[in-house]
Amino acid sequence: MSCLVLLCLLPLALGQNIVQNGNMETMDHWNCWNIHCELTTDHHSGQHGIKATGRNHYYEGPSQTLNGLKANGRYKVEGWIKLLNDQAGHLGQNVELEVSVDLNTGKTTYIAVASHPLARTSDGWIHLTGDFNAPAEGIKSSTVYYQGPSPSVNFVVDSVSVTPLVANTHWRAESDATIERMRKSDMNFHVTTSGGISDSQVEIDVIQTKKSFAFGTVVDCKEYLNGDQRYINFLNKHFNWGVTGNALKWDLMEPQKGQIDYDTGINAVKKLRSNGIKVRAHNIVWSVDQFVPWWVKPLRGQTLKDTVKHRIQDIVGRTKNLVEHWDVDNENLHGFWFQNTLNDRDYNLEIFRIAHQAGPNVKMFLNDYSVVSSGGMTGAYRDQAIRFKNANVGLGGVGAQCHFGDNVEPDPTLIKEHLDTIGQAGVPIWITELDVTNSDEHKRADWYETALRAFYGHPAVGGVMFWGFWSERHWRGDAAAMVSGNEFRLNAAGQRFLDLTEKTWMTNETHKLSQSGKNFKVRGFHGDYTIKVKVNGKEVTSLAQSFTLGKSAHTVNLRVHH
Ligand SMILES: *[C@@H]1O[C@H](CO)[C@@H](O)[C@H](O)[C@H]1NC(C)=O
Repeated sequence: MSCLVLLCLLPLALGQNIVQNGNMETMDHWNCWNIHCELTTDHHSGQHGIKATGRNHYYEGPSQTLNGLKANGRYKVEGWIKLLNDQAGHLGQNVELEVSVDLNTGKTTYIAVASHPLARTSDGWIHLTGDFNAPAEGIKSSTVYYQGPSPSVNFVVDSVSVTPLVANTHWRAESDATIERMRKSDMNFHVTTSGGISDSQVEIDVIQTKKSFAFGTVVDCKEYLNGDQRYINFLNKHFNWGVTGNALKWDLMEPQKGQIDYDTGINAVKKLRSNGIKVRAHNIVWSVDQFVPWWVKPLRGQTLKDTVKHRIQDIVGRTKNLVEHWDVDNENLHGFWFQNTLNDRDYNLEIFRIAHQAGPNVKMFLNDYSVVSSGGMTGAYRDQAIRFKNANVGLGGVGAQCHFGDNVEPDPTLIKEHLDTIGQAGVPIWITELDVTNSDEHKRADWYETALRAFYGHPAVGGVMFWGFWSERHWRGDAAAMVSGNEFRLNAAGQRFLDLTEKTWMTNETHKLSQSGKNFKVRGFHGDYTIKVKVNGKEVTSLAQSFTLGKSAHTVNLRVHH
């Protein structure tokens, strides 16, 4: 019986681990072709781990043939690794759990299930965690293995599991319950009547005029400043947050040293604010090599540090009273140019420190991909967020980009798994760059709805930004758009977005006192409200009230008279 109870409480339905001797108490089932492996008492759990030395290639590491990987199966993978030496001249090593699948067609597919960049001995045991979908074609055999570090780096591994992750068929009900709990609060109405007015004559309208939850979009700043009026109007009407697309990126706003276009980005930010739209600014620096300004690349040492510091203080100083968020160091799981060039793994912390000091009221964000829409770096993102949090450098939240792969349907089971994992860091998660692609606009509508429900219905998510809405200004074109073509047609995906965010997730109720009584409760979505009182169908305008409903309950006292 206790077993049944336990199963009911498991957040995710996990099947049988298909790794044998995952605890590594012996060498059984583990292969070490061309390298040297030995059992060691250095361990993460149990009494032993396996130590790997004598490697000649980055892709060599302890491996095991998996027992019964199923085509199309969804699997969660975990393992531990500890480096035994660092490599001179390198900031760290990429460490990975990889699955290779030999197909009946003769082809082999390689899946980076869990990658963790810049690992060092000082990190101790590193928890690799990730997941993958097995190929749909016939599977001949499959292997899980550790890889990544340079051959000169030795390591110990322990505690490996590959476990089927069963589709969560209750996800919609769970999402709805979270929305009910997290995105709404109670309004307690207390009504008195006088002057001979009876309950049957009184109606009260509870009308939400604005939502608090952030549903935003990337903004093409030039278009928004001086472009198509339909684009500007749609954005103003249907989104309450905007993200600066390209205009504030360092390499684009400062194409030559000192030749800086502040106007496009900052004027767009001011125009957004004047229309009641809050702003995420994107991005201060971008650590992926190709996005570092070309004129910054030859700089070294103190000159480079001074240049970076000036960039941060200048742009944050000019915008700190205009924006809510800044993406500080874009895609820092995927690029390390500044850290590498300065030979300082912790320089990304210094970038945050400077940004936070320059704008202490702006929430400073990491922003990355392969963390929620797919899961290869989910665990690494959690670990990065924990490192930033512990360093106390002003991390305000983590952005999950969520550009779903071409024609990839959002999987609510995996989305929840990924959000739960990143959520372990205890910082807010924002969905920063959402798009899905499907040339069928009705399927696209369903996919956007799935993604929106999975995000809005997860307690760690603070906001959802689309990465565009109009096909003519969308980096993925019409297949991802909610408004199509030169005719500016609201398509099925756009209609679904409006239905969800402006009807399903907005409150608009009328209560007749004859039915609800003089004391009643309305549970409404967070946001701005107007209360209107009608007597005999005619509004008594002097009794109207407006307020903002936040996380705590709100009391409305109404004394109805003629
Ligand atoms: C509220 O609902 C009523 C009745 O369905 C509708 O006429 C009205 O336009 C709605 N108001 C808002 C602000 O959505």
